[in-house]
Amino acid sequence: MIYLDNNATTPLDPAVAEKMSEFLREKFGNPSSLYPIGREVREILTGVREVIARALGADRTEIIFTGSGTEADNFAIRGVMDAFPEKKGLIISAIEHPAILQTAEYLENKGLDVTYVPVDEYGTVDVDFLKDAITDQTAIISIMHANNELGTIQPIEEISKIAKERGVLVHADAVQSFGKIDVNVDRLGVDLLSISAHKIYGPKGVGALYIRRGTEIGPLIFGGHQERELRGGTENTIGIVGLGEAVRIITERGDKDKKRITKLAERLKKEIEERIPKVKFNGHEKNRIKGTLCFSFLGLEAEAILLALATKEIYVSTGSACSEGEEDVSHVLSAIGLRPEVARSSIRLSLGRFNTDEDVDAIVQELPDIVKKFREISALNIDEEY
Ligand SMILES: Cc1ncc(COP(=O)(O)O)c(C=O)c1O
Repeated sequence: MIYLDNNATTPLDPAVAEKMSEFLREKFGNPSSLYPIGREVREILTGVREVIARALGADRTEIIFTGSGTEADNFAIRGVMDAFPEKKGLIISAIEHPAILQTAEYLENKGLDVTYVPVDEYGTVDVDFLKDAITDQTAIISIMHANNELGTIQPIEEISKIAKERGVLVHADAVQSFGKIDVNVDRLGVDLLSISAHKIYGPKGVGALYIRRGTEIGPLIFGGHQERELRGGTENTIGIVGLGEAVRIITERGDKDKKRITKLAERLKKEIEERIPKVKFNGHEKNRIKGTLCFSFLGLEAEAILLALATKEIYVSTGSACSEGEEDVSHVLSAIGLRPEVARSSIRLSLGRFNTDEDVDAIVQELPDIVKKFREISALNIDEEY
């Protein structure tokens, strides 16, 4: 199997699996219990908070465990809007993950005022537009650090500076950037930041929200004193242990993965562009998570390419795997100005820690023929310009 869909999810690192199974077998205590087997688990969770905090340049009291990246995103926005009932405005970008977009839509339906900041053809948010959109009513700006479909990295530092001058909080969805590029909450200047374990070779169903000390935020889940009474419920101890180990490995490996993935992705991009005519690369050339490659193959339906590659046990994605099937055309590809038929011809290859040169060789071997074959039978016009 050749897995080139690491932005959708990553395989569990064997060291994470090992740590989790050891914990699962040996430690069942409830972290809220006062006797030793409970306290021991509580200390383990504190250790994980410390590992995450250190990786983000934060303090461990600023880390709240959540049930996913989606939950962390929901929590950031709803929690802040709940804490500032007198404010009616929030600002997000047009290319956010549905976790942010749909939370904003929900709040909009309840009468709040949402501004959607447009992006340019590379998927970079229009900072001037954002600046002009801030009003006295704005409580929070939520912009993703890196986009899941294009990999484009947003100017969060600049946005945070602008927001601070106006007394507005900033949340960054760092689900796709954490573990791939530097994510330091002070350098980014953010007040809140979301991460997710399964994008960094950890388990699914666990994430975390960084909340800068002193930030006013309402609770997400009632019913317990856990997570500083912001998110009640007995903790997903096994998942949290997996998240901690995944983050520990990231810190230990430093730049190793980034360098190797960048090299593999650059070769893959070059080979695809050389071997396949009429291919359009989407996303920022430089300011990008380098392992994310989004291409449009004019005249084709991306799904056909995906399924043809899947018969060879090569797994890629069309648009965003999270929203696949839900909508006809990706909102991200529309926002960068692709016509619907071009957007529908787009596939995303996303590389990760476990990809090798052989994986790149395999897709370079298969893809040109698949594209050629489908184009020969395609009723769509491939001679048009993009
Ligand atoms: C940018 C971004 N935010 C949030 C999420 C949601 O994370 P989770 O799958 O942990 O809910 C994803 C997942 O694809 C993502 O890419």
